[in-house]
Amino acid sequence: MAGQRRKKDRQDYYYWEAKKKGYRSRAAFKLLQMNKTFKLIKKKNRVLDLGASPGGWSQVVAELGAEVVAVDINPMQSIDGVIFLRGDITQDETLEKIKAVLSEYDAVICDASPKITGNWTVDHLLSVDLARAAFRIARHVLKPGGNFVVKVFQGEEIQKVFNEFKPYFHFKKFHSPQASRKRSAEIYFIGKGFRRLKNALAR
Ligand SMILES: C[S@@+](CC[C@H](N)C(=O)[O-])C[C@H]1O[C@@H](n2cnc3c(N)ncnc32)[C@H](O)[C@@H]1O
Repeated sequence: MAGQRRKKDRQDYYYWEAKKKGYRSRAAFKLLQMNKTFKLIKKKNRVLDLGASPGGWSQVVAELGAEVVAVDINPMQSIDGVIFLRGDITQDETLEKIKAVLSEYDAVICDASPKITGNWTVDHLLSVDLARAAFRIARHVLKPGGNFVVKVFQGEEIQKVFNEFKPYFHFKKFHSPQASRKRSAEIYFIGKGFRRLKNALAR
């Protein structure tokens, strides 16, 4: 019971902190924590934020002094210094729109979530599809040496996803930031030091 209470307090803590600091989502703290640990984004970087709405991650990246291109299937209210593109990251036309703004990015970050069905396996597989779509975009636009962060809901495909992503990065690991809810299935793949692989861009 006391454990439950502590968990709730912590969730509320990030909710209220977000309100206090003017962030549009408590998710902002996940990126702040990951960036502190892994040094993913620096001043003047060009950053692509996929699944960006309502905009907490984009706010954090803009505050870091980076240039942000944000993409979401849903609308997002404007943020100073952030270019917003409306689009579905699983669609080729969205990749074309992204490339039309900038041909190369220092970091690609993705916090996209599917519409939750409540079925653990279905939600896991939908989230794997989004993570693969983000990775596909990253393979096209990430500059060599660039960084990649993507959310995935844990489940049976997780090791397969890791094996697909890992050859492309010098440093790679799954990480759960403190600001993630403890009961959440979400985990983030962190890839640093992107390298292009031969014959890897067939799709
Ligand atoms: C958890 S929210 C992202 C929160 C954001 N990082 C923040 O800090 O405000 C997940 C987002 O993924 C978006 N999304 C889901 N599927 C998508 C898709 N196929 N293409 C683009 N965005 C998608 C949703 O519309 C939603 O805005």
